[in-house]
Amino acid sequence: MGTPPAAAENGNVHGAFIGNRVVMPANGETIPVIDPSNGAVFAHLAQCGQAEVDLAVSLGREALETGEWGRLPAFERGRLLMRLSQAITAHAAELAALESRDTGKPARQAQADITAAARYFEFYAGAADKLHGETIPYLNGFFVATEREPHGVVAHIIPWNYPAQMFGRNVAPSLAVGNAVVVKPAEDACLSVLRMAELAGEVGFPPGALAVLPGRGAVTGALLSGHGDIDYIAFTGSPAVGEMIQVAAARRAIGCTLELGGKSPHILFGDADMALAVPAIVNGIVNNAGQTCSAGSRVLVERAHFDRLVGELAASFSKLRAGTPEMDLDLGPVINGAQHARVERFCAQADRDGIALLAEGSIAAGVPADGLFVTPRLYGPVDPDNVLARDEVFGPVLCVMPFDDEADALRLANDSEFGLLAGVWTRDGARAMRLARRIKAGQIYINGFAAGGGIELPFGGVKRSGHGREKGLAAMHELSTIKTIIQRHG
Ligand code: NAI
Ligand code: MG
Repeated sequence: MGTPPAAAENGNVHGAFIGNRVVMPANGETIPVIDPSNGAVFAHLAQCGQAEVDLAVSLGREALETGEWGRLPAFERGRLLMRLSQAITAHAAELAALESRDTGKPARQAQADITAAARYFEFYAGAADKLHGETIPYLNGFFVATEREPHGVVAHIIPWNYPAQMFGRNVAPSLAVGNAVVVKPAEDACLSVLRMAELAGEVGFPPGALAVLPGRGAVTGALLSGHGDIDYIAFTGSPAVGEMIQVAAARRAIGCTLELGGKSPHILFGDADMALAVPAIVNGIVNNAGQTCSAGSRVLVERAHFDRLVGELAASFSKLRAGTPEMDLDLGPVINGAQHARVERFCAQADRDGIALLAEGSIAAGVPADGLFVTPRLYGPVDPDNVLARDEVFGPVLCVMPFDDEADALRLANDSEFGLLAGVWTRDGARAMRLARRIKAGQIYINGFAAGGGIELPFGGVKRSGHGREKGLAAMHELSTIKTIIQRHG
C-alpha cells in the first residue's frame, strides 16, 4: 500500500471506472500489480477509498432513480449487453494478453476465458427481455400479477482466479435485470475487468449503470460491502470473507449470494470410460493451476479396480508441465506468494503424514527464476479425515481414496463441509442417477466434468460452498426480486 512515487514514475496507474470516466482516487494510494510468471511489478492499481465508494454508489442510485438507466426498456438493456459482448470479442487478443500477464494463465486458457466473458454478455443480452412475471388466481373481484424488479444498487465482489469470466458471470445478469452495478475486483488481478468497464462506457451504457472500484479487500471491499445504500451483495471468494459479507448484509437485512469454493469429488467406478474420465479429471484440477472454486480435487476410486484406475491417472499426471503464458503448457504459475506458500504447505503436510506421492508433473526449463510455479501433484491413498481430503488447496494437487461400493462412495462424497460440484463416472446409468440425486452439491456431472464451464447452467453451492445461484436464468432470479400487484376491480 502507498507507493505513489514509483507509480507516478512509470505513469502506469490504473484508476477506478466511475460515471463512465477513469477516476484517480483522492487518497493517492496505489497497489503494485505483479506478473506471477516472473515476479516483476508491471503496473499499479489505484486503491479506492470512502470517497470513490460513495461516488459510485450514489451515481448508481441516480442512474436508477432519475437517470437514463432506470428508464431503459428491457430490450434496450439487452442491446447494450450485446454491443458489449461484441466489443469484448473485437478486443479479445488485447484482453487475453492482459489476463495472461495479470494471472499467469497459459495463452489458450486466457483466450478461452475472454470468449466465455463475451458469451456471458451474449447470453444475458438475449435473456434481458424474457424475464416474465405471472398472474395469480385470487379472490373474486381481484387481479393479481407479479413482476421482476432489480434489487437496486448491487455490489459484486469478485476474485482473481478468473477476472474476465467473473466479470461476465456477475455483471451481465445483474445489468440484464436492470441493477446498477458496483464491482470490487480483486487486487491481485483486475486489469481485464477495468478494460471491459471502459468498453461498456464506449458502447453506450449510461453513466452510473456500471462502476469498477479497484482496491484491497480489507479496505475497498469492506467499505463497499458495509455501505449503507447498497441493496444486495454478490460475493465469490474465501469462506472467511464470505462470512464477513453475510454479516455485513445481515446488519442491513439485505440479501447476498455467496460462492465460496469446495472440495468437489469425482466418483470413479471400474466400468468408467477412462478415455473420457482421465483427461476430464486431470483438467478439472490443473486448469488455472487448480485455482478454481469448482475444481474436482478428490477422486473416490472403486477399491477393486484401484490400482488400474489410479495408474492411468498417474501416467497422465506425470506428463503435466507448468510454464509461462507464452509457453502455453498445461498450467501457469499460481497467482501470488501466499498461494504458492499455501500449495507447498499442503504438500509438505502430506509428505509428513506419509501419504504417497503417486505422480508429479514438472516445471518447464527456462521459466523465470522468480516465477510462482508449482508442480502438479497426485497423492494417495489419502485417509478421508486427512486435511488433504478435507480442505480446499486451491492448487494443482489431487488426492485419491478407495471406496467399497455405491453406498460407501455416497457417504465419502457427502463427507465434506463443502458441496459445490461432483463428477460420477460409470457406464451404469441407473447407478449414476441414484448417486446424482443423493449427492449434496449444486451441480453433478455424469461422465463429464467442466469445472467453471456452462454459462447456461445454474451454478452454486450448498453447505459451506455458499448459497444462491449464478449462471443461467437462475442468476437473473437471484439478482432481482418479485413485486406482487393486487388490484381490486369489483
Ligand atoms: P478473498 O476471499 O480474500 O478474496 C476474494 C475477494 O474478496 C477479493 O476481491 C478481495 O479483495 C475481497 N475481499 C477480501 N477481504 C474482504 C473484506 N474484508 N471485505 C470485502 N471484500 C474482501 O480470497 P484470497 O485471500 O484471495 O484467497 C484465499 C483463499 O480463498 C484461496 O486460497 C481459496 O481457497 C479461496 N478462494 C476461493 C475463490 C473461489 O472462486 N471460490 C476465489 C478466490 C479465493
Ligand atoms: Mg497480478
